[in-house]
Amino acid sequence: MRLYFKTALCTLVVIISYIGYQQKFWQDGSLPLDEEQSGLNEQIVIHFSHVVAEDTPKGQAAVKFAELLEEKTDGRIRVVIYPNGMLFNDDSEFDALKNNDVQMIAPTFSKVTKLLPTWQVLDLPFLFENEEDIERILTGPYGEQLLNQLNSFDVRGLGFWHNGFKQMLSTGKPLQKTEDFVGLKIRAMPSNVLQMQFKLLHATPLATSFDEIYEELEKKEIDAQENTISNIYSKGFYKLQKNLTITNHGILGYAVMINEDFFNSLPTNLQNDLIEVMDEVAEWNFEHSKQMNEDNLSRLRDFSGIHIETLSSADKEKWQKVFEPIYTYYEQEINATYLQEIKQLLNK
Ligand code: SIN
Repeated sequence: MRLYFKTALCTLVVIISYIGYQQKFWQDGSLPLDEEQSGLNEQIVIHFSHVVAEDTPKGQAAVKFAELLEEKTDGRIRVVIYPNGMLFNDDSEFDALKNNDVQMIAPTFSKVTKLLPTWQVLDLPFLFENEEDIERILTGPYGEQLLNQLNSFDVRGLGFWHNGFKQMLSTGKPLQKTEDFVGLKIRAMPSNVLQMQFKLLHATPLATSFDEIYEELEKKEIDAQENTISNIYSKGFYKLQKNLTITNHGILGYAVMINEDFFNSLPTNLQNDLIEVMDEVAEWNFEHSKQMNEDNLSRLRDFSGIHIETLSSADKEKWQKVFEPIYTYYEQEINATYLQEIKQLLNK
């Protein structure tokens, strides 16, 4: 019996020593690494979550950002993108960013207005008339002053991206006259200014999260919504809501944000690379977003199942009249200075 134990013990020691020798456990005190993957130790990964499809202005800008940053940093930074709300949705992404569960997000500015009410200035109906003005405001000192407000949440605003002008999409009948809205249930993002638009038109606004719109449309819980052509096209909303009115009544854009502690933990040269790439991508995004919405619109025009009309100038004037109290609300209850400044910049 003793001999048996001795033999078993010796065999065990020989086996362990052999495996140890093979794996070089005690030669350098660390676990073995595949030679080809040795750079992995130094690679920094940014997890970037957003809620829209890849083939949209935001989806494409995120991909461009990942490609250019990886290239510029020689692979030191890798950006992993989670589109379509696969990790976090409208309601959870800001907290996920603050908790560093993801390092970057790019929500629409309308969705941050509960925390930063002044940002509602960008939601004001019929404020912007063309893409050039939008770019000038969002990428200039006015945009910077808005982004700086994020600092109090331990979040750094890196810049703005643009999607496009919002249009109206409806199930029952085309929306043209102000009376067409009476009694409808309309999905709008959770910004008081956006919700007010539809209350003033005697409709009921619903702040459905973006990832739930399709399901609510299927259940016939929403009669209409405001959105950009690229979101309407890429999410297939046009399959369930077949009346599109080109209104250009508001804009939809994104504030690109990074977790502040994570950003500060990066070496200075990588911080600079990230900022430079961000600026480059913002420029690219402003150049391409308009084209993308136009391409998607022409595809929708080719699709016979959808009725498309344009808001007439006469009706536009009536909408503007109905929306006047929204400007008064912003001026009196939110921030008169922000409104005055943006109007000056837009020569209004
Ligand atoms: C987005 O473009 O990020 C979503 C917009 C929306 O919620 O309608």
